[in-house]
Amino acid sequence: MQNPLFIALDFNHRGKRRQFLEHFSNETIDVKVGMELFYREGLKAIEELKEAQYNLFLDLKLHDIPNTVKRTMRVLAEMEIDMVNVHAAGGQAMMEAAIEGLEAGTRPGKERPKCIAVTQLTSTNEDMLKQQLHIDRPLKDVVCSYAQLAKTSGLDGVVCSAKEVPFIHEGCGREFLTVTPGIRRAEDDKADQMRIVSPAEARQLGSWGIVVGRSLTMASDPLHVYKEMHSEWKGVALT
Ligand code: C5P
Repeated sequence: MQNPLFIALDFNHRGKRRQFLEHFSNETIDVKVGMELFYREGLKAIEELKEAQYNLFLDLKLHDIPNTVKRTMRVLAEMEIDMVNVHAAGGQAMMEAAIEGLEAGTRPGKERPKCIAVTQLTSTNEDMLKQQLHIDRPLKDVVCSYAQLAKTSGLDGVVCSAKEVPFIHEGCGREFLTVTPGIRRAEDDKADQMRIVSPAEARQLGSWGIVVGRSLTMASDPLHVYKEMHSEWKGVALT
């Protein structure tokens, strides 16, 4: 996987998901399956998407006791997906257990799925951090400290806002993966996202991968918007 643009397949209906993907039948795309699709369609959807040879990020954001996370990750690794994630707030023992579970479930000769940690959701802002989560430190510091904990725990990277990527590179090195949702073009509805940037800004800030959902899933011409966003992300002119 090279600097993926993950399309978030946030659908609750198999027909709608298939219809949406038909727009991309001539493209090589990377996809993200989140809770909505996975809880609705389960393993069947994963098998179908793997068969279509998409790179697959299963975004279930595990956050539970270490034993449960380890056992669950073992099951997920058996599905041979490319990337999974946890909440860094689950702590070091939980993240280490996630890696142990993934290693245990990876079939011989196959690569362990990459595992990244959510630092702070891109729908969180500093006010919410203070008022609701009772964390008084600046959001950037919290994100960087979660990223370092994820690295110490053996994870491959983090989910964060692109705005935080330069600081994460400083603390964790450029090899540490940064996957950044909260991607919008100027004309898009921000909706519930707070820390947003455009695909071009994400590239300039050094994101390794980006996640785009509603700008594509709610577009009247998803392929056209995808091509625009993809060329911005890759830094090449639209052909
Ligand atoms: O529609 P939108 O582009 O905002 O979708 C972003 C996607 O990325 C959603 O599927 C959301 O669950 C996911 N995500 C996120 N923030 C995180 C982790 C995942 O928005 N920190």
